[in-house]
Amino acid sequence: MSTQVVVGTQWGDEGKGKIVDVLAEKADLIVRFQGGDNAGHTVVVNGQKHVLHLLPSGVLHEDALCIIGPGVVCNPFVLLKEMETLEASGLKTDHIVISDRAQMLMPYHQYQDELEENAKKNKIGTTKRGIGPCYSDKYARRGIRYHEFIDFETFKVRLKECLDFKNALFTKVYGGKAMDYDQMLADFEAIHDRIVPMIRETTHIVNEAIDADQRVLFEGAQACMLDINYGTYPYVTSSSPTSGGVPTGAGIAPSKIQTVVGVVKAYSTRVGEGPFVSELLDEQGDWIREHGFEYGATTGRPRRCGWLDLLVVKHANMLNGLTDIVITKIDVLTGLDQIKVCVGYEIDGKVYDYIPSDQHTVAKAKPVYKIFKGWKEDISAMKTYDELPQTCKDYIQFIEDFTGVRVSMVSVGPDRVNNIYIH
Ligand code: GTP
Repeated sequence: MSTQVVVGTQWGDEGKGKIVDVLAEKADLIVRFQGGDNAGHTVVVNGQKHVLHLLPSGVLHEDALCIIGPGVVCNPFVLLKEMETLEASGLKTDHIVISDRAQMLMPYHQYQDELEENAKKNKIGTTKRGIGPCYSDKYARRGIRYHEFIDFETFKVRLKECLDFKNALFTKVYGGKAMDYDQMLADFEAIHDRIVPMIRETTHIVNEAIDADQRVLFEGAQACMLDINYGTYPYVTSSSPTSGGVPTGAGIAPSKIQTVVGVVKAYSTRVGEGPFVSELLDEQGDWIREHGFEYGATTGRPRRCGWLDLLVVKHANMLNGLTDIVITKIDVLTGLDQIKVCVGYEIDGKVYDYIPSDQHTVAKAKPVYKIFKGWKEDISAMKTYDELPQTCKDYIQFIEDFTGVRVSMVSVGPDRVNNIYIH
């Protein structure tokens, strides 16, 4: 059995896309288990940049079967567009399949997301891709699953039921417009022939692959602090991006998970609202944003930037059971005289070594920092741990010591080849 889960340990945008791409080289199957096209992975191969939102980052490995799992909310129009973009760059897409249990993200979900976010006094900062409304419908048991799309006559009826319900909500509750059934049906009819051949019963495929000792990689989008249960609720995503989301989102037993790789960016960023204790609202934050090019791959929004928060990574370890840490973007910190790491939260005179669950309490927290000396050497072409400057090694070692998880790889640049393997 060989299974590996890759998860984000902070607020997303840790560079999971690149790490999955590197690890996927050895995988036979790559499975996305949650989220939708609210992800924004950037993968650079031979200097060519690919931005993926819905497709797993592992898709660039054409020999591996690429699965959009049951826990995903999948917008079929976005899916086809992403596939067309890859095809235009000369890449293959016939290794992509969609679980028949995956939820179909509908045009009315996107509209609902927009109406709801606009109506909220305290905005969540959603990507307005319809992810939250689609998950809400799933749990309200009125979602449309991909198997209901196979027979178009069945789909017509389901679409009518669902759209009638949504149009009443849009016009009577939100003061919005009703959406046109005939137009929507025609749009779906136009993609039916391309989507249906991709729909498969993937749960058996995944379990049989594991039993046959094939290598299966489960790819998480977003990250632990955005987890619906354990993130900074309500400023979270609508699914479980932790390793706990894999059994439910991909349909395997928890005992089948072997290794869990947590991706840790060498500093912190966050998109959208919500508490961020080590945030830098000064020139130092701007410096990190510019050097790390911290702008959303999906929305282009500038990301909030700050020092690495190890309480966050410790929290992620507790929830995910990390077996390995991969540190990314450590090259971005090159040139700084000193680097700070948050190791505690001071709240009303008391120092916490864990993250309180109440966001009002966290909002009052002041970071307790440990200060490290920086380095000036360009580390981006380095290939071995020994080559790294001692101050950089000290930083890596501290992350390992504080979290109790081995750092098995350090990424020093955006390309597939910019990596230092430690263990
Ligand atoms: P989400 O799933 O939305 O969380 O995305 P992600 O975790 O895949 O992160 P995203 O691709 O948005 O951001 C990572 C950015 O950093 C991309 O532009 C990558 O090319 C780049 N990147 C990844 N690793 C490194 C690295 O080690 N150094 C540098 N300089 N850039 C990196």
